[in-house]
Amino acid sequence: MAELWCEMVVAIMGMIVLSFGRSGIAGKTSTFVRSEWPSLDIPPDNQAFAIPKGRNAPQQVHITQGDYDGKAVIISWVTTEEAGQIEVKYGTLENQYAFSAKGVVTTYTFYNYTSGYIHHCLVDGLEYDTKYYYKIGMDGSAREFWFHTPPKIDPDASYTFGIIGDLGQTYNSLSTLEHYIHSGGQTVLFVGDLSYADRYEYDDVGIRWDSWGRFIERSAAYQPWIWSAGNHEIEYMPNMGEVSPFKSYLHRFATPHVASNSTSPLWYAVRRASAHIIVLSSYSPFVKYTPQWRWLQEELRRVNRKKTPWLIILMHVPLYSSNLAHYMEGESMRAVYEDWFVHSKVDFIFAGHVHAYERSYRISNIYYNVSSGDCCPVPDTSAPVYMTVGDGGNQEGLAGRFWDPQPDYSAFREASYGHSTLEIRNRTHAFYHWNRNDNGKKVAIDSVVFHNQYWASNLQRRRLKKRNS
Ligand SMILES: [Fe+2]
Repeated sequence: MAELWCEMVVAIMGMIVLSFGRSGIAGKTSTFVRSEWPSLDIPPDNQAFAIPKGRNAPQQVHITQGDYDGKAVIISWVTTEEAGQIEVKYGTLENQYAFSAKGVVTTYTFYNYTSGYIHHCLVDGLEYDTKYYYKIGMDGSAREFWFHTPPKIDPDASYTFGIIGDLGQTYNSLSTLEHYIHSGGQTVLFVGDLSYADRYEYDDVGIRWDSWGRFIERSAAYQPWIWSAGNHEIEYMPNMGEVSPFKSYLHRFATPHVASNSTSPLWYAVRRASAHIIVLSSYSPFVKYTPQWRWLQEELRRVNRKKTPWLIILMHVPLYSSNLAHYMEGESMRAVYEDWFVHSKVDFIFAGHVHAYERSYRISNIYYNVSSGDCCPVPDTSAPVYMTVGDGGNQEGLAGRFWDPQPDYSAFREASYGHSTLEIRNRTHAFYHWNRNDNGKKVAIDSVVFHNQYWASNLQRRRLKKRNS
């Protein structure tokens, strides 16, 4: 009963927020002043980065979706002394592993650092909506985990995503991660800038990737994290002889890009429950005729809102942000893709990069050209809502300065650490919350009920009502 009451309150709050958006009343800049914790990385020997016991024990265990439709996972882990066991044992009963799958092992060097043995294993042919147990490693140092597969692709499948960005490995990052774990989120949509290992030099870069892998394991070994890359993954460091972009990221984090006909692990798409999720790369070529542009054009054609009503795009650099930090860095990608996003009626575009939280109204700027003079975004019911969730808590601290006055397109903004959750209920409704890390507590601050951009139109709603009557 209490839960129902809470949902009603959230729904009413959301309707108020939505109605403000329609009537053109200006957005809100939160006056909250957070309790200052230093933005310092947790020391390497801290328990948060504990190395599992046992010789050659698997560590840095994480999973991601392994196919287009959610019937596969890629399980990744690292061993330090030898490659050891390269297979995953798995099954639907605890301690009983009826199946096994063989993976691949890779290593890389970065300056004088040599990585451990990085394992990636595709486990496919899974049943939907099922709990699987899995075991990796050998003998006394073997480790066991579990995950749930999503419901089958269905327009009314309910599912909860978490959105985390710019996480890093500070005490604030730990607070974000622990709050997220208790949020009920079933899959993380990660909007880039993972470890901030590139803030270090020489061998410490690799060492901080390893500590970050152990740091996220508490969540990422048990549910998929859908990866997108940020600027901190580029690691172009010619002073150390390292000039191959995304080297650490690409070795450590697999993505199912081939399943969506992508030619690069940096941009791809997956479908999960009732959502179609498109991952873009802010730091790869994206203008007309580039591989990413061609792929996105095709992928948007493949979207079927009758099967997956919720269309979500992840990228690192926000296309709309009123924060002074990184202001208008997304303008070139906006100029190339915004028209497609509006005509495809994208529901949400989640980004990071700016270390604060912001939500936009549905606005677009697609009529602008050099002679039209229409240079300001205008309300547009077909446009996505843009969310910046770059507030995971990394060592660079918060981006606390916003443009003043708050632009008309900005609905809510606050410079605090936190994460978001998107609770998709059915084909028409989703509950969204941005959750602030408030002095050790998780507090839902920005709560909105969203109507689906495809099914919420009057025509689609009438058809649905007629079918169900
Ligand atoms: Fe960034």
